[in-house]
Amino acid sequence: MSEISLTGFNVWLDVVFTSLYVVVVLGLSGHFIGNVLTGRVKKRFIGKQWPHHEGPPVPFLPKFLHFQHVFSMFALGISGMYIRFPFFDGGRTPMRYVHYVFMIIVTINLVWRLWYAFFSRQRDYKEFAITKEDIVTAPKVVLYYIFVKSSKPHLGKYNVMQKGTYTLFVPLMILQAYTGFALVATPMIFGYSPREVLLSWWLGALVGSTDLAGWYARTAHYIINWLFIILTTVHAYLSMTEDFPAFQSFFGLGGADHHDSHGHGEAHGSPALSPSTGEAE
Ligand code: HEM
Ligand code: HEM
Repeated sequence: MSEISLTGFNVWLDVVFTSLYVVVVLGLSGHFIGNVLTGRVKKRFIGKQWPHHEGPPVPFLPKFLHFQHVFSMFALGISGMYIRFPFFDGGRTPMRYVHYVFMIIVTINLVWRLWYAFFSRQRDYKEFAITKEDIVTAPKVVLYYIFVKSSKPHLGKYNVMQKGTYTLFVPLMILQAYTGFALVATPMIFGYSPREVLLSWWLGALVGSTDLAGWYARTAHYIINWLFIILTTVHAYLSMTEDFPAFQSFFGLGGADHHDSHGHGEAHGSPALSPSTGEAE
């Protein structure tokens, strides 16, 4: 591809994703209006009718790792966008430092969270697994979110859309870390750069040069950056509007936990399709 068409493609990506983001924000605004018109806002924020949670409260470590994740993702998103569009003067060096520090923190954080999910005593990977019941009842969950139904099936800690989103975050993070490290072209590993180590032997060989492979990595990194911005916006909106107390307690802001160990709610993970008023996304 020539320089011109590469630049053209970059501009095209900017236009597509900026427009898509506007559509997402308008969609969420429409959804919020739906929440007002259907009385969900009144029921929740004024009537204090929030979903009940069964089982013990969320332990400290996942909350801490999530908080660290949110903070790092904001730092990476803002510094990354600055690297691409320097929106004020003189920030280039500090913003690059911010990106380089938080890229290490977020990578360690990701490995830590995956270790917690699969290998710790409190491993919780099963909470994220999409079951057959999840798939069968998925349309009902969607109908609830688009206001056709007034309640949604409750199968476990997270609903099918949450499970899908949280699970998608993992390969996206891994790809983001991989393509991100592949942008470092300074020799530092026995005379080779991370870009050469990560890309030369396969993508470089495939497309003809490490430079072009680097361009692919930067483009993928930029696209995933937008996917994170979009997913995080939707995730943050739903977590606050669907279950504000859970949001508060998840961020240690002292919200009532609404944990119910006396069996009002459905048994944890039970396939019983009893309705629930909703939970955080
Ligand atoms: C997960 C670990 C990550 C690593 C290892 C990483 C690494 C990097 C590196 C080395 C650069 C090039 C910096 C330079 O030119 O000096 C970069 C650019 C960038 N990063 Fe990351 N990053 C990571 C995560 C993220 C995340 C989570 C986001 C957004 C939410 C992000 C958004 C960006 C953007 C927008 C750019 C500018 C790309 C361009 O110039 O087109 N990065 N990243
Ligand atoms: C302003 C930003 C964010 C807010 C307000 C927020 C809010 C929340 C809340 C309240 C929960 C708990 C849901 C429940 O227990 O029902 C949650 C879970 C989760 N969030 Fe976020 N979040 C944000 C950003 C992010 C980002 C950037 C990521 C990943 C890239 C992320 C990944 C997750 C995951 C994987 C879970 C599952 C539970 C866990 O990690 O222990 N969130 N979020």
